[in-house]
Amino acid sequence: MTATDPDPDTFERTLAADERVEPRDWMPDAYRATLVRQIAQHAHSEIIGMQPEANWITRAPSLRRKAILIAKVQDEAGHGLYLYGAAETLGVAREDLLDALHEGRQRYSSIFNYPTLTWADVGAIGWLVDGAAITNQVPLCRCSYGPYARAMVRICKEESFHQRQGYELLLALAKGTAAQRAMAQDAVDRWWWPSLMMFGPPDAESPHTRQSMAWKIKRHSNDELRQRFVDICVPQAETLGLTLPDPALRWNEERGHFDHGPIDWAEFKAVLRGAGPCNEQRIGQRRRAHAEGAWVREAAAAYARKQRDRRTADGRPEQGRERGREVAA
Ligand SMILES: [Fe+2]
Ligand SMILES: [Fe+2]
Repeated sequence: MTATDPDPDTFERTLAADERVEPRDWMPDAYRATLVRQIAQHAHSEIIGMQPEANWITRAPSLRRKAILIAKVQDEAGHGLYLYGAAETLGVAREDLLDALHEGRQRYSSIFNYPTLTWADVGAIGWLVDGAAITNQVPLCRCSYGPYARAMVRICKEESFHQRQGYELLLALAKGTAAQRAMAQDAVDRWWWPSLMMFGPPDAESPHTRQSMAWKIKRHSNDELRQRFVDICVPQAETLGLTLPDPALRWNEERGHFDHGPIDWAEFKAVLRGAGPCNEQRIGQRRRAHAEGAWVREAAAAYARKQRDRRTADGRPEQGRERGREVAA
């Protein structure tokens, strides 16, 4: 059996047994296309997500905070790399995915179209945005597609460090002067609702959810994950001594969950359409960085070619891994 022979029975058996589908296995075209769309969007979000926080690296208030923030932003670049690598196992080229991002044919998470106005935003992003990302991504460690699931294991470990550093930063501000507390509260006020939107539209309006769950790409619906996130955040906000900006937030004894107020989906759709405060800035910066990095990619490819020619001249066998690296460059 080769990858070109359709084999829906094996595919279905793999899913039913909760085993992983691997790159060489046959898979339905729609399953492949769904994964490419999701993994690419995820990878784009990681690298675009570097921008709002990188904005504060030069202005971090201490060497310790600066070192932490640099490490975090660098982690996000790494997450992008693992994910572009995972997408490539599905037969797409990284170059084409980046073109799709730059030309607006593929999306990144709308959360990164909001600005980082103060230092406290670095804390709010870590606590809420990375926190929402973890809630979304922990179940993806059990995604049916092997390379994506394995990439997520490492990403989630790093995201949990991101979440903690944000929480710890906010805690320091919340225990600080009145001005620092006010800055922390203002950041939480601005980031809370967009964080809830990160889980995507309500289940009733989420066209892909049912099929993605049947394929075991997704394990929980958008609303389930959003509820889980709210339930985690409410007691954490209490510990911080900060208020979540939702007067309707209260414990519902019957449901065993916190109820929350209505989400402004009109805002979500507007940001998705490109009308967010920073859409143009983010994509403009990304295009510029890509163009300015062209010489690095060319130099890396030329170096890989030189190494390969040298090995061929020596009569040494070429290493598969290095061949792959050149393609990736
Ligand atoms: Fe990340
Ligand atoms: Fe992160």
